[in-house]
Amino acid sequence: MVIKTAEFVKSSGKWQECPEATIPEYAFIGRSNVGKSSLINAMLNRKDLAKTSGTPGKTQLINHFIINEDWYLTDLPGYGYAKVSKVMRRDFEKLINNYILNRKNLVNLFVLIDSRHSPQKIDLEFIEWCGESGVPFSIVFTKVDKLKPNIAIKNVEDYRNELYKTWEDLPEIYVTSAEKKEGCDEILDFIQTTNEFLKNNSVNFDE
Ligand code: GTP
Ligand code: MG
Repeated sequence: MVIKTAEFVKSSGKWQECPEATIPEYAFIGRSNVGKSSLINAMLNRKDLAKTSGTPGKTQLINHFIINEDWYLTDLPGYGYAKVSKVMRRDFEKLINNYILNRKNLVNLFVLIDSRHSPQKIDLEFIEWCGESGVPFSIVFTKVDKLKPNIAIKNVEDYRNELYKTWEDLPEIYVTSAEKKEGCDEILDFIQTTNEFLKNNSVNFDE
């Protein structure tokens, strides 16, 4: 997909405040600091459209970007950020869960996983919740540039095996690096194909 335009629309503190749900939407989710905002910038070829930081907890609201005036890309706050109070963490969780369950035009959730770590409970639980809630999602491994290629392959394979313990079929898996712009085209191709499918089938989110 050619990115002709990519613009920030708004930040929302509640799913009810998000922009009108009239066009397809794709959202990035994952633990704090996993690289959501960085991968969004890499995909869009914009340096600082989504705000990134080495300190976890940078993105605290739901951020909507409109791409090619045709679809939304959404940057969500990270889950499981340890350095905020329990109450704040619960508020974040509520914000994220309500958004995911209520956003009518949400076509696919990209669940980002840091490729450097062995499968973590919090990610596996989130993936499980997506399955139980019937949320369509894909898995995106991030920061592969930080690993030797054979280690990256092994970690992804380990993750697959972990998921096969509870899943019969695995979702689409992408292996990415925002730093090296790896895997971005594959994600954009998926979005383009899905958008075309929705258009050809006259899918209307308002109904
Ligand atoms: P929150 O908004 O806090 O939830 O974090 P986030 O998931 O949006 O992460 P962000 O994109 O802000 O990146 C966190 C840190 O990881 C930053 O220091 C980035 O530079 C770094 N980072 C992100 N992606 C990559 C990558 O592909 N390769 C490398 N080497 N570093 C990355
Ligand atoms: Mg962020």
